[in-house]
Amino acid sequence: MPASFDLILKGATVVNQDGEGVRDLGIRGGVIAGVGPFAGAIAEETIDCAGLHILPGVIDSQVHFREPGLTHKEDLLTGSRGAVAGGVTAVFEMPNTMPLTTTADTLAEKVRLAHNRMFCDFAFYVGGTRENIGDIPALERLEGSAGIKVFMGSSTGNLLVDDEPSLDRIISALGRRAAFHAEDEARLISRMGLRVEDDPSSHPVWRDAEAALIATDRLVRLAEKHRRRVHVLHVSTADEMAYLAQRKAWASVEVTPHHLTLDGDEAYERLGTYVQMNPPVRGAEHRAMLWWGIRSGIVDVLGSDHAPHTREEKDHPYPGSHSGMTGVQTLVPIMLDHVNAGRLTLQRFVDLTSHGPQRLFGIRGKGRIAVGYDADLTIVDMKRTETITNAWIESRSRWTPYDGQRVQGWPVGTLVRGRRAMWQGEILGPAHGRPVRFLEAGV
Ligand code: DOR
Repeated sequence: MPASFDLILKGATVVNQDGEGVRDLGIRGGVIAGVGPFAGAIAEETIDCAGLHILPGVIDSQVHFREPGLTHKEDLLTGSRGAVAGGVTAVFEMPNTMPLTTTADTLAEKVRLAHNRMFCDFAFYVGGTRENIGDIPALERLEGSAGIKVFMGSSTGNLLVDDEPSLDRIISALGRRAAFHAEDEARLISRMGLRVEDDPSSHPVWRDAEAALIATDRLVRLAEKHRRRVHVLHVSTADEMAYLAQRKAWASVEVTPHHLTLDGDEAYERLGTYVQMNPPVRGAEHRAMLWWGIRSGIVDVLGSDHAPHTREEKDHPYPGSHSGMTGVQTLVPIMLDHVNAGRLTLQRFVDLTSHGPQRLFGIRGKGRIAVGYDADLTIVDMKRTETITNAWIESRSRWTPYDGQRVQGWPVGTLVRGRRAMWQGEILGPAHGRPVRFLEAGV
């Protein structure tokens, strides 16, 4: 009897754990049911994908979607529209909303708000605080929990754990890998006077490389002491990359597309506060080391750190301007442009955006193109040249630091569990986002 599928994606170059080659993919019940070629298979629908590449769905393990409480900037729906428009099939969202996501109830409320309303699948980090240390084992295991996130230095919102004894207690309580914003609060406070009114180029002078290294070193030492897994978010300095290269046993490494792409030596002049971000976009010597980390395998994942603020909030004179920029929708095109420029291979991109998150966070049934896995797929045209514009951005904030940038390599289709959430630029409902499932969460 011939194999039968709901959908066959025919003749694309599939980039997979077994390399890269022309294959057919058969999807049934939202799951990958066969990797062809198929002889005489039956399908309700067949899409000719010749000339396109199919990647395992891109998982963005760091976004801020601002709901509840800050929905004038973004919400779970608009953020997820940006995700699927940009080829992202699942996101892990951050806890610095209002109220903060620090309890079972606030997490459950986010899961409720997201279910069948987000276009992509989702998980939510729970903020680690001095108050909820005893609850960490339970919070890590709840449905939709991406694990614990700790801010070691202050950024947007007031989630902060800046003293070593509290951090020690949090890390010792961890069961799953936890994510950390590593900038040393004491050093940030002591250097506040270095911020120059109306001059955002003083942002990286204030939040310098030493502030990042002090915090990363403290974090990694505690992780090694307690033998716990820690994830260092948005590594931005040469110093941290050299340090982490020697300390990977318990630590994993994220870099962002903006730290790899934007040039701190010219971007503050060109973009002003629109490039202001924590940790800051820095100069060429730092960027070169981040690329070295990509090439040498030290970097485990790419996260966009999508952190939207309205134009009005960005337009306040520095330092009153808010830190953060959009990124979930531009992660794939910006990085594919780097692939086309020869800075990384498409396989390494897949390693960073699918296999990496799956491996670090123990995601069940995602991150690979393999029979039995969710049919989460990012379909891209590596030849297509496009200009990124503010008008293309789905975020409620409606701007991108890459406005006007021409790129080669473009997401043309996003499948979430077998259903098209985006096809040729059109977002397709109904939204059917569900919680990502984790090996260690028991749900
Ligand atoms: O620039 C940033 N903005 N860095 C962060 O860590 C938080 C983020 C935000 O939530 O706006």
